Amino acid sequence: MTASGTERLLLRTWQSGDAAFHRQLWAERDPRVPAHRRLTHDGHPSLTEMEDWIRSYEHEPAPGLLVVQRRGSGTVLGYCGLIENSVSSTEDPELAFDFLRAFWNHGYATEAASEVINRSRALGYRHLSSTVRAWNTASLRVLAKLGFVDTGEQENDDVHGDLLLLRKTL
Ligand SMILES: CC(C)(COP(=O)(O)OP(=O)(O)OC[C@H]1O[C@@H](n2cnc3c(N)ncnc32)[C@H](O)[C@@H]1OP(=O)(O)O)[C@@H](O)C(=O)NCCC(=O)NCCS
Repeated sequence: MTASGTERLLLRTWQSGDAAFHRQLWAERDPRVPAHRRLTHDGHPSLTEMEDWIRSYEHEPAPGLLVVQRRGSGTVLGYCGLIENSVSSTEDPELAFDFLRAFWNHGYATEAASEVINRSRALGYRHLSSTVRAWNTASLRVLAKLGFVDTGEQENDDVHGDLLLLRKTL
């Protein structure tokens, strides 16, 4: 697979030229996000390290994380897709999305994730999970719009915010 999408959006695999955009996403992350997922004070991951990540990325579980770009202009907006689940109580792949701040609140995350959900169903997955910090109102809203429900299971974290587990039956 190289690309799929919706009327407005193209979802495609990563190219080395995506390193700068990917690093910008890291630079924009909320300070409450755990430090290992934000840029360090001395600038890591660097552009070269981002390029290395792209080169070795294997799109597992399928379809993996996909770059989301606007059809027509080709502007890269963010990424959306599936990652390995991070919660021991479930084996469901996790839905993940991350968009540049300049493009928030245009419905892009919901639209891209709907496409990922369709593809997940076609690939034979029965459920998807998603983990989200309790403070992340926008993400919780996107997941609610997509039909994810709170399982009530959560990991308490006073530093980064409680991590909630949501699930959707496909
Ligand atoms: C979460 C994220 C992907 C949402 O992307 P997006 O393209 O703006 O999402 P959408 O436009 O499809 O939907 C956003 C919804 O949240 C709502 N929303 C946004 N900020 C909000 C806030 N502070 N309070 C209440 N609702 C809010 C919007 O109004 C919209 O809902 P609506 O359609 O009912 O009006 C984006 O904010 C992001 O990239 N955040 C950083 C990364 C992240 O947190 N990823 C998720 C980790 S679990």
